[in-house]
Amino acid sequence: MALERLVDFSTKVSAPAKVKTAAVVVGVFEPRRLSAAAEAVDRATRGAIRTLLQRGDFPGKLGATRILFRPRGVAAERVVLVGLGKEADFGAKAYRDAARAAALAVADTGAADAVLYLAELHVADRDLAWKARHAVMAAAEGLYRFDEMKSKKPEARALKRIHVGLAAAGHADDANRGVAEGRAIDAGIALARDLGNLPGNVCTPAYLADRARALAKDWGLGIDVLEQKDMEKLGMGALLSVAKGSRQPPKLVVLRHEGAGRREKPFVLVGKGITFDTGGISLKPAAEMDEMKFDMSGAGSVLGTLRAVAEMKLPANVIGLVPAAENMPGGAASKPGDIVTSMSGQTIEILNTDAEGRLILCDALTYAERFHPQAVIDVATLTGACVIALGHVATGLFANKDDLARELLEAGEQAWDRAWQMPLWEDYQEQLKSPFADFANIGGRPAGSVTAACFLSRFTKAYDWAHLDIAGTAWRSGKDKGSTGRPVPLLTQFLMNRAGSA
Ligand code: BES
Ligand code: MN
Ligand code: ZN
Repeated sequence: MALERLVDFSTKVSAPAKVKTAAVVVGVFEPRRLSAAAEAVDRATRGAIRTLLQRGDFPGKLGATRILFRPRGVAAERVVLVGLGKEADFGAKAYRDAARAAALAVADTGAADAVLYLAELHVADRDLAWKARHAVMAAAEGLYRFDEMKSKKPEARALKRIHVGLAAAGHADDANRGVAEGRAIDAGIALARDLGNLPGNVCTPAYLADRARALAKDWGLGIDVLEQKDMEKLGMGALLSVAKGSRQPPKLVVLRHEGAGRREKPFVLVGKGITFDTGGISLKPAAEMDEMKFDMSGAGSVLGTLRAVAEMKLPANVIGLVPAAENMPGGAASKPGDIVTSMSGQTIEILNTDAEGRLILCDALTYAERFHPQAVIDVATLTGACVIALGHVATGLFANKDDLARELLEAGEQAWDRAWQMPLWEDYQEQLKSPFADFANIGGRPAGSVTAACFLSRFTKAYDWAHLDIAGTAWRSGKDKGSTGRPVPLLTQFLMNRAGSA
């Protein structure tokens, strides 16, 4: 599973034609334009690439690959051509698509290592560190496999190491930094993906707590796990009401990365950890219900981000809060119309037991106050409505502070893990009115992701807060079904930016 153990990444300074490797990867633009590295290899091979292109065999379509085995004149065993698409359209997405395709093409051969000469391509507004980081991350993303639950593991790949190739040593420091960042962030992504992909009968609240304990041990993080009785003492009636219908006891994980001085206020990340969401008594329909094992993706991404910042030794204090529970329709489950008292003292009428994410988050958000945070960011597969609004491309972003929203949007852009801001206007709050309690846990069909955020906003008045609805971005459905690890890149980037400016 965790990919870092399978393939590792580093930089290598060498001329493309002279580099000793099992596979040298060079890019070709469409139609038939050689990158500098391809040009160098072409010259050394007395036109092996040009000949191929002239015959029309490799037009350079984005992501297409072609392997030349042992061409005379280069030190590498294989030359792997990767199509870059039209030069005018070559941007961040195309760059990442090419790196991913190249890594997959190499992995299909018997090559044990490869050198990718892609970081020297021009990508508008992106520097060498970015290109090195994203070569690593796109390659790792493509090579990720989840076979933990297969009785027969697929054959191990020969590929053990990928180098980000540089023809000249000039900016090797920047590339090294980018590779190191890419490795750390990718390890966080891989953890989040593994946790998301595990089935609900394995990945329970107790399992999440155990994995958090292991993470704390491996990376020197502080940890506390609050048990049901602790939550009872704290008056977390909303969180507890969700767990009541399940045999699995709830957990509240508190993980601490102490990278800055004790007086420096922490960032608090809160991740929704519903390890399976049946909907409870407001039961979900059967179709695709298996995908509700991904309903702990927010929790997975918080643990993954802590993993990444710990590896980077980020000079910031970061606290991960993971409220974890299973939403089941048991005999003790909450019923529509039940009224519970949250830790904040506010009472909530549970009109729909399937709107459970906000119920576990609200108590965790109140708990977050005790840390006197610089900012609190919660991450949750919160609403189907967010998938309708933004699809599977952008994460929904809500914030009670515009500067914080802007920083997160910018971090998403830098990390290529993008978000889009949605309104959190007062006007939407009235949809949550309840005749019986302080407010209800649902606001009707219109703007469902906005009213969910409005619900949370009633618990976050004490600090700067943002909410990321990752219902559309945390996993893919269909034939490539699986966790994406988002928004580990966005969160890590945000923390890097803030730590850098502190
Ligand atoms: N975990 C779901 C949200 C979800 C649904 C994410 C589908 C991704 C795909 C959440 O707990 C939920 O059930 N939300 C309800 C809220 C509604 C009852 C107000 C929803 O979106 O339908
Ligand atoms: Mn639900
Ligand atoms: Zn849910």
